[in-house]
Amino acid sequence: MEVPVQRNAEAGAAAECGELADPAFWRQPPQARLDAFARLRALGSPVYVPEGRGRGHWALLRHADVQEASRLPKVFASAPGVTTPEPARWVRALFGDSMVNLDGADHARLRKVVQRAFTPRLLAAAEADIHAVAARIVDDVLAERPDEFVSAVSSRLPLEVICNMMGIPERYRPEIADRVNHASENIGVERGLASRLRMPGRGLRALARMQRMVAAIGRERRRNPGDDLISALVCANVDGQALGARQLGAFFSLLMVAGVETTRNAITHGLSLLTDHPGQRDLLLGDFEKYADGAVDEMIRHSTPIIQFRRTVAAEHELGGRLFRPGEKVVLYYASANRDEAVFPDPDAFDITRSPNPHLGFGGGGPHFCLGAHLARVEMKALFRELLTRPVGLRAVGLPDLAGSNFDNRVRSLRFAFDAPG
Ligand code: HEM
Repeated sequence: MEVPVQRNAEAGAAAECGELADPAFWRQPPQARLDAFARLRALGSPVYVPEGRGRGHWALLRHADVQEASRLPKVFASAPGVTTPEPARWVRALFGDSMVNLDGADHARLRKVVQRAFTPRLLAAAEADIHAVAARIVDDVLAERPDEFVSAVSSRLPLEVICNMMGIPERYRPEIADRVNHASENIGVERGLASRLRMPGRGLRALARMQRMVAAIGRERRRNPGDDLISALVCANVDGQALGARQLGAFFSLLMVAGVETTRNAITHGLSLLTDHPGQRDLLLGDFEKYADGAVDEMIRHSTPIIQFRRTVAAEHELGGRLFRPGEKVVLYYASANRDEAVFPDPDAFDITRSPNPHLGFGGGGPHFCLGAHLARVEMKALFRELLTRPVGLRAVGLPDLAGSNFDNRVRSLRFAFDAPG
């Protein structure tokens, strides 16, 4: 249950911050948002964001605060939901068993199963596959010369990779691609603020159908296990029990939405950034192996594909000079933390040689730290190697069409072109 807000010394700042709950705030050009974050960070402490009807959240905007909250899961809990304050029935039904919304032993038990399934052997096999998928996508692009990057390139790679890892039969893939898109499109301010998350029937049906599909694949794999993630999951043993259909479905939806949408946006922003910063692009091209790791992390810092996650205070705790009380809602704004001038010199610059680069794009380092961080980095590096090293001069044209979500930095489309004939 939402508790009344305890206004304290930050009351003045709270009045400033209502804009974060306004969809118009998220639709303005990115630099205007970033300037507003900088202004709010300068207030020096968590600021209150009223969301109407007596509800609201405390916004953590500074790097140190986001990191501290991420690392104190007993105080800043992920249950009852990291995207919604009071999960609707559909969230509980489809994601209630998802580890992203669990804490403590429940979370650790599920994460362990998944980590085990992401064995070095499976990941090493995936690395070889990722390079092959990236090369195939770029071959297709050069042959077909499409002009829209998201559909032709950036959405294909993460989806194909995760489907290969999970062992999804080819016949299910077009429908899964379609349904992942429906599900992701319905999170964020396009359909109401994430804090008042609603899932229209279309998105809901997409998720439910996806979970039925994976249940069917899971039943088949239980009978005939293979060398894939779904087999590893259905054969896993959690406290003496196999993973149930509901847990398998929740895990599958999480991986699809968390792993595909994020990586796709990181790649799209990456192309845009390299186009806008030809000096950085030339540096990367000059010695790809030397600069690629730094470039990928700087793309993630600069674009911050996941803008925010929500926590619920479970125990009294002082942070950033404010006493938090149980039941209060706290939002970790990774997008602001990643531009914190206290940590990143010249934070708005795109600098692939930035070192160190302790960005919070994959979370603040607590128990929920992104499970797919390594996978995402491998995917991005493989794709940019293919895109940059073919002698065709691929570049973005114009600005990305941003969805204006307050949850993820989603790009709907980005036009692109080649400098040289194929
Ligand atoms: C969690 C970002 C790619 C799977 C997270 C979190 C963030 C994040 C911010 C929350 C961390 C926290 O609360 O401390 C990203 C970004 C990606 C990416 C920016 C790409 C550039 C992936 C991929 C996968 C994945 C490729 C898997 C295939 C997950 C899962 C969690 C998670 C399962 C929940 C972990 C838990 O609750 O224990 N990610 N992610 N992510 N991510 Fe990613």
